[in-house]
Amino acid sequence: MGTISTREPHQIKVRRMDFEFGEDIPENWAADNPILTGLLTALSGSFPAGERFFIDSVRHFMDRIDEPELRRRVRGFVGQEAAHTKEHLAFNRFLDERGFFAKMVEERVEAGIAKVKEMSTPEECLAHTVALEHLTAFLASAILENPDMLERMHPTIAAFWAWHAIEEIEHRSVAFDVYKKVVDDEKLRRRMMTRTIIFFSVLNAYRTLLILKKRGTIADLPAWAEAYSMLFGKKGAIRRTWPLFKAYYRRDFHPDQHDNDAIVAEAKEKYLGAAA
Ligand SMILES: [Fe+2]
Ligand SMILES: [Fe+2]
Repeated sequence: MGTISTREPHQIKVRRMDFEFGEDIPENWAADNPILTGLLTALSGSFPAGERFFIDSVRHFMDRIDEPELRRRVRGFVGQEAAHTKEHLAFNRFLDERGFFAKMVEERVEAGIAKVKEMSTPEECLAHTVALEHLTAFLASAILENPDMLERMHPTIAAFWAWHAIEEIEHRSVAFDVYKKVVDDEKLRRRMMTRTIIFFSVLNAYRTLLILKKRGTIADLPAWAEAYSMLFGKKGAIRRTWPLFKAYYRRDFHPDQHDNDAIVAEAKEKYLGAAA
């Protein structure tokens, strides 16, 4: 298997955003689809505790990182994840006011992560973080490389998700580079991804179903069909981006091998304006 050249890491810019989620945002804010809205609500509910876990897992090894450049990138990663948590907490409270049960998800995820921390070594926590950072960068690429979903969203909601996606791609290789530096166990890295993708899929599906059941939209079959086709159909965002997910299992995988620079630059210009 030939080695794929690794690109320069993206510049990591910590942007202090302050999104205002107003009355004019439609109820099913994810492309007018209640199922997709439930799924993205479940994801948003998982970010505050999840991102704190990522920060803690990487910071744990900070004293073993001596290269100034990697230390600088870790600080950028921490700054970006902290900003995401702040904005997602605001978004989650907006969702709760509309009866989307984001707080319920936050509490479940918090309890789940406490258990993971209890049962895992710091090295396993870092491997888990590297896997989840690949998953978030993969989902971010799926969103930005298949823009139909964002184009069907209210401008504030589209900018909010695009901002998070852009920054996940900017810092996609930080946890990985720290892992390579301080743990560098290839078997653990891959094993943790297999565990992570199973738990991530099952738990997110379950949380989504809980939200949909509580909201009474679980039986909307046309909405299910549309959501399925947007994600997993022939032109679906997840299906089209799947090779990027699978690349994680390559022995010579590195997150910066994937070139979506032009798409990220375009999204920055379109959604971030002066903050780009
Ligand atoms: Fe994030
Ligand atoms: Fe991240």
